[in-house]
Amino acid sequence: MELHSYIKIPFLFVVLLATLALGSTRVGFYKTTCPQAETIVQSVVQSSIRFNRTYAPAILQMFFHDCFVNGCDASILLDGSSSEKTAPPNSGLRAYEVIDAAKSMLETVCPGVVSCADILALAARDSVVQTGGTHWAMPTGRRDGFVSLASEAIFPSPSDSIDVQIQKFAKKGLNIEDLVTLVGGHTIGTASCRTFSNRLYNYNNTNEPDPTIDQAFLHRLRTLCPHGGDDATRVALDTESVNIFDTSYFENIKRGRGVLESDSLLWSDPRTQKYVKRFIGAKRPHRLTTFKKMFGKAMVKMSKIGLKTGNHGEIRRVCNKVN
Ligand SMILES: *[C@@H]1O[C@H](CO)[C@@H](O)[C@H](O)[C@H]1NC(C)=O
Ligand SMILES: *[C@@H]1O[C@H](CO)[C@@H](O)[C@H](O)[C@H]1NC(C)=O
Repeated sequence: MELHSYIKIPFLFVVLLATLALGSTRVGFYKTTCPQAETIVQSVVQSSIRFNRTYAPAILQMFFHDCFVNGCDASILLDGSSSEKTAPPNSGLRAYEVIDAAKSMLETVCPGVVSCADILALAARDSVVQTGGTHWAMPTGRRDGFVSLASEAIFPSPSDSIDVQIQKFAKKGLNIEDLVTLVGGHTIGTASCRTFSNRLYNYNNTNEPDPTIDQAFLHRLRTLCPHGGDDATRVALDTESVNIFDTSYFENIKRGRGVLESDSLLWSDPRTQKYVKRFIGAKRPHRLTTFKKMFGKAMVKMSKIGLKTGNHGEIRRVCNKVN
């Protein structure tokens, strides 16, 4: 009995410290103030994805684009003549209506309580789960930001070298393992032909295709993307399993079947290849478990970039405008 009470003391301290810690989020932040918050977001996301599965990658990408600029503070959702959503790298973002739908339901049930930043974070988690990923506890308690500037919308680009990709993630406090893991979200993603057509026809001004692309795959991509490439045609980044959150994206990269240059570079550089190998090295189903677990962990880490909590930021009434 005595031993038992000794163990409890440090445990209590930990709980106390975690509660007092400023500038942090926690799992179940809305447990008493809006107990239905997570289930409402989940049901809106589920029905949206059932209606059109492309909402899953769209929501995931939107969250990534929110967190990379000004932190995860829903700055991506603000309207304005020069807000983030007007920046060229964000022109393809969609799914704003999914977040708005969840917000308006939440405003009916618990007005002024749940931030748009948290709705987006939860929706990103639910999108991954809905397509076959593993559920993870997403901390909440983020507040919505006031600032959204197109000029600050700088992201890793498909043409970035591995050095540049590593630098861009490092600036956000994310390491190489996080980079490879998070880019693994491409397992459910698509890209427009324009993003990679240079690899098919005129790589690095050689008038030849990128020599690292598998020949049969090159032929296939050329058929999908006729000369020049356009914005309207979209190609799966994980050929043959774009609707399922799995590790075949990494297996494809290894076989010269990466679509974006940045994807195929993950295999050619030893610093990133190391993690790709980890995801495809083990036998099924272990490799899936490893990737899915690490993805959740990396998402939680990313979800803490530039947190606004406590007295910072606000709880927006609608997601596209500050109060
Ligand atoms: C899903 O949405 C995409 C993008 O708007 C669209 O191209 C596609 O046709 C839609 N699919 C269905 C089945 O409605
Ligand atoms: C692209 O071309 C330049 C100059 O022709 C060369 O120095 C460089 O190594 C090439 N890059 C790649 C990735 O092949």
